[in-house]
Amino acid sequence: MSVNHHPIGVFDSGVGGLTVFHALREALPHEDFIYLGDTARLPYGTKSKHAVESYTVAAARLLREQHIKFLVVACNTASAHALDALQREVSDLPYCGVIAAGAEAAVAATRNGRIAVLATEGTVRSGVYADVIRSLKTDADVQMLSANLLVALAEEGWCEGAEAEAIVSRYLAQLSAGYDTLVMGCTHFPLLVSVFRKLCPSDVKIVDSASVTAKAVAGLLAARNMLNAQTKPGRDEFKVSDLPERFARVGARFLGRDIADKVALTAFSAAHLEKAANALNSLS
Ligand code: DGL
Repeated sequence: MSVNHHPIGVFDSGVGGLTVFHALREALPHEDFIYLGDTARLPYGTKSKHAVESYTVAAARLLREQHIKFLVVACNTASAHALDALQREVSDLPYCGVIAAGAEAAVAATRNGRIAVLATEGTVRSGVYADVIRSLKTDADVQMLSANLLVALAEEGWCEGAEAEAIVSRYLAQLSAGYDTLVMGCTHFPLLVSVFRKLCPSDVKIVDSASVTAKAVAGLLAARNMLNAQTKPGRDEFKVSDLPERFARVGARFLGRDIADKVALTAFSAAHLEKAANALNSLS
């Protein structure tokens, strides 16, 4: 039986994945979406691979119970740590992360092969962006820098002005000069794009993994004949594991629209996590 009318699941550690959701919503106006933000356990960027794997597998199982047809792992840190675990543990659910499309876009954009990636500490530690970029361009010179503070800055809504510029320029100063492409390898960073644009040399290309992932997902669903045939606008549902009010408040800023009546607390339960942790422990 066709699953085309089923929703697409979008998973993130919290509110940041709304940048990816926003791009997906624009690319796929007739799809229904269920967004799951694990606000009880965020941030993922400072957690271990094992913790992020078990949270991501548990989230994928929860979304699979909602009959999603495809999962977009919007969180860069979860994409960096947990795609192999998803492949093993939830193998019947088609999915994609955000790193492959971001890396491809960076390789397409660079002229001198020197690429800088700003991400969370966990994404940097995984080395996955550099690995994927080098698998596409063996002589690429990739430097990665963790910029955790930008997550808080974006959630606080301080996306421009003196404070944002001071913090972004302090991070940029830590990069070796000469890169011609900068990847915003974290869900939150696209909100700071105007500051990056202002502070980076004008010939540096800025790659936003959210928008390129949305295009890749739209292409993939079309190629697999999985698009929803409905002609009315798709429905949005947001589920969070803690503090739905905060998610709605910060999320409204991320999306530029009110979502309060669409946000609900979900039972991202101890049982989901325990099952995922047991499965992963039996493998390690
Ligand atoms: N969503 C995370 C990412 O893209 C950033 C926030 C967090 O650390 O949980 O890496």
